[in-house]
Amino acid sequence: MNPRLPDVLPAHIAVIMDGNGRWAERRGLPRTAGHAAGSETFRTIATFCRDIGIQYLTVYAFSSENRKSRPPEEVDAVYDLLRRYIKESLETMERDRVKLKFLGDIKALPADIQNLINKAEALSSKYEGCQCNICVNYGGRDEIVRATRDLIRLSTFEEMKAIVEDDFQRHLDTAFLPDPDLCIRTGDETRLSNFLLWQLAYAELFFTKTLWPDFSVKELAAILRGFSKRIRRYGGL
Ligand code: FPP
Repeated sequence: MNPRLPDVLPAHIAVIMDGNGRWAERRGLPRTAGHAAGSETFRTIATFCRDIGIQYLTVYAFSSENRKSRPPEEVDAVYDLLRRYIKESLETMERDRVKLKFLGDIKALPADIQNLINKAEALSSKYEGCQCNICVNYGGRDEIVRATRDLIRLSTFEEMKAIVEDDFQRHLDTAFLPDPDLCIRTGDETRLSNFLLWQLAYAELFFTKTLWPDFSVKELAAILRGFSKRIRRYGGL
């Protein structure tokens, strides 16, 4: 049975997919098994978002802090899942018609993953239905610093003195994307953990105790119903 959906849906959903490690540990499995299960959940949720007409889905797959501070075996396991996900997406692209984008400091990733990313982005750029943004080696503060460096490199001193928010936005990884309307974090933590610090300024935040591999289409639909009842004021009355 299809879950009940509200009339008004967000255009852009952001998700912090937390709790993979705990999901695995509770089952006596290696943490990497949790990431594998989480990657399946991601596919299910992304397909559902596309089917119900969500225009943008942005997920936090791996932060720059995760990359630096997790054991190398765990980093490698996530890289392998990413390779597998992109290869599968390349095979099913014509059927799925999802536009793929990867956000973050991509240049620090292994060369073969960068090649897969370039290929997937180039081949899927023609699709218009739903855009899926996967943040890998991403950190919100790092993104802001990279954007600032870019702005300085490309602007004259006079232009820099006149910078406005829109100029800055164009140098972020999310350039030309609308800000997320809704941000969901699974895994029973209530913080942003350096995710989309600029872009989430006015997003509605939803936190759930559900660990990411257990997150379902049914729970997403319930959050969407909750979202539709929120009154968004953007600083107004
Ligand atoms: C957070 O759980 C999850 C991650 C750090 C990795 C997420 C990776 C995937 C879902 C797989 C790769 C992604 C794609 C898009 C193919 P955690 O390990 O911090 O969990 P814990 O808080 O329970 O330890």
